[in-house]
Amino acid sequence: MATDAEKLAKLTMNENSGDVVNPWNVSSSSQKGVDYDKLINRFGSSKIDDALLKRMEKVTGKPVHHMLRRGIFFSHREMNLILDAVEKDKPFYLYTGRGPSSEAMHLGHLIPFIFTKWLQDTFDVPLVIQMTDDEKFLWKDLTLEETNKLAHENAKDIIACGFDIEKTFIFSDIEYISSCREFYQYMCEIQKSVTFNQVKGIFGFTESDCIGKISFPAIQATPSFSGAFPQIFNGQKDIPCLIPCAIDQDPYFRMTRDVAPKLKLEKPALLHSTFFPALQGAQSKMSASDPNSSIFLTDTDKQIKDKINKYAYSGGGSTVEEHKKKGGDCAVDVAFQYMKFFSEDDSRLQQIEEEYTKGELLTGHLKKELIEVLQKIIGEHREKRAKVTDEMVNEFMKPRKLKYEYKSVKTKV
Ligand code: TRP
Repeated sequence: MATDAEKLAKLTMNENSGDVVNPWNVSSSSQKGVDYDKLINRFGSSKIDDALLKRMEKVTGKPVHHMLRRGIFFSHREMNLILDAVEKDKPFYLYTGRGPSSEAMHLGHLIPFIFTKWLQDTFDVPLVIQMTDDEKFLWKDLTLEETNKLAHENAKDIIACGFDIEKTFIFSDIEYISSCREFYQYMCEIQKSVTFNQVKGIFGFTESDCIGKISFPAIQATPSFSGAFPQIFNGQKDIPCLIPCAIDQDPYFRMTRDVAPKLKLEKPALLHSTFFPALQGAQSKMSASDPNSSIFLTDTDKQIKDKINKYAYSGGGSTVEEHKKKGGDCAVDVAFQYMKFFSEDDSRLQQIEEEYTKGELLTGHLKKELIEVLQKIIGEHREKRAKVTDEMVNEFMKPRKLKYEYKSVKTKV
């Protein structure tokens, strides 16, 4: 008998590529990782192409983030509608989230938040961040008290990314849903509009899953609607939402986009990222449960150095001679892939790619450069996190009005 996880893997497996991508499992049979072009076809999203990037630059008047330029955020749903709104000086808001399943956040967890911070700065818009402590209670062997505590701990790492306290609301499902009538009403509306058959098809739930899991997608869908945050949007129900997330979260928002018209609500737009590869290579993503697969935000400089040197899968030749003769393969080289995510210097990255491919740059040197980049990023994060107090966390997590100015919005205050 196949286990539930096996059934789900089968259901969400791309027959052509052997890739499994769902909210609970990401793996690929190829050393290069998931075939993202095939995933776009399978999910029915759109590729972020040059024309869209140019339009973003035109509308914002600044260069796009390196994660967009380098194809890390590679897929979208209706980003053009968000840009239309911006051009007409109409508002929108950002929504992203985190499932607080462990205290140990790793580098991969930072990616959506670094990018969301850039979006918030660039578009100057409000942001809501959902901490799904209820989800992790339902899926993991953790108590509600534990996941709620983790939500507050993880909020510190999120705050350390630099979000504007006047424009950001971080909320725990356990705390906020019980206090906000409108949020709960939207949840009920969504629960009534989706059948068990539909979530079975989207998420692979089975009869033996607890009913909490089966109705959870309605909870992740709800923040896509501005009416669920009356204190922020003055009860306006039609403010468009943009969700930056890793593509494994897309099933939730496919469902959300399906229900929106039934409830006469706006469909959320999305920006999807690729996965941050494990140290061992792109067949799997970084996982908090395997310490040797990840660089944690709490790792010391020495741990970072040792992990990269010891575990980062190399696309270089097995000997210096072979490397110089045949060159390295950047597409599978983990150190190069990490540089692509985190080094901001385009010209240096291009130079590394050329020299590594030709075999002029050795793996050891590439790793050394990466170690410096990561030690700096994690060192700065460590310092910023240490400055985040419990009072600040409470302030970010307090339902309140956000600073939110738009000429075309009728604010009642
Ligand atoms: N389910 C996500 C996780 O486990 C958390 C989440 C909630 C989320 N809402 C979101 C992620 C919106 C991205 C966008 O990590």
